[in-house]
Amino acid sequence: MMFKKILVPIDFSHFSKKALMTAVKLAEFCNGKIYMIHVEEDIFHMKRIHEAHPPLEEVCEKIHKDFVGEKKKQLEKFKKYVPADLLAGAVIKEGHPFVEIIKFAEQRSIGLIVMSGRGRSNVKHALLGSTTDKVSRKAKCAVLIVKDEKYKFVPL
Ligand SMILES: Nc1ncnc2c1ncn2[C@@H]1O[C@H](COP(=O)(O)OP(=O)(O)OP(=O)(O)O)[C@@H](O)[C@H]1O
Ligand SMILES: [Mg+2]
Repeated sequence: MMFKKILVPIDFSHFSKKALMTAVKLAEFCNGKIYMIHVEEDIFHMKRIHEAHPPLEEVCEKIHKDFVGEKKKQLEKFKKYVPADLLAGAVIKEGHPFVEIIKFAEQRSIGLIVMSGRGRSNVKHALLGSTTDKVSRKAKCAVLIVKDEKYKFVPL
């Protein structure tokens, strides 16, 4: 099976960079295209603050604008890891990461999602990051989980 549309969720951790590099190789091999998505969760929750406290609206809007601007810059940096002819799109969404990732995959008829088993918070005790866990269980397309080289198999 060839994967023509590959989605790579990015949380700007080095783990997501590694998954992106794997996706690039796969896209070259499959003659496919890469889509990148970053989902802002904190800012999505912040919007609710001024719903409850209207005087904060202006401050919230300013923080929101600066925050999204910063994320756009970071996404531009990550775009450089993908050869221009392979990149089909790079978007920033707001909401719950796994929901926005799966919604985007369905809207664009993505065939494969490539993501890392770990992310920004890198919780050592968990087997798998919660975003990857939910996406792999709930997405209807194929999901490739790229593991960290430090990962060790521990029975039980
Ligand atoms: N906000 C996000 N936007 C896009 N992709 C994300 C986002 N959060 C996580 N991901 C993707 O999921 C991968 C694993 O991150 P995940 O959030 O599952 O684990 P974690 O951050 O280590 O733990 P936690 O469950 O505490 O968040 C990341 O490398 C990235 O590919
Ligand atoms: Mg995370």
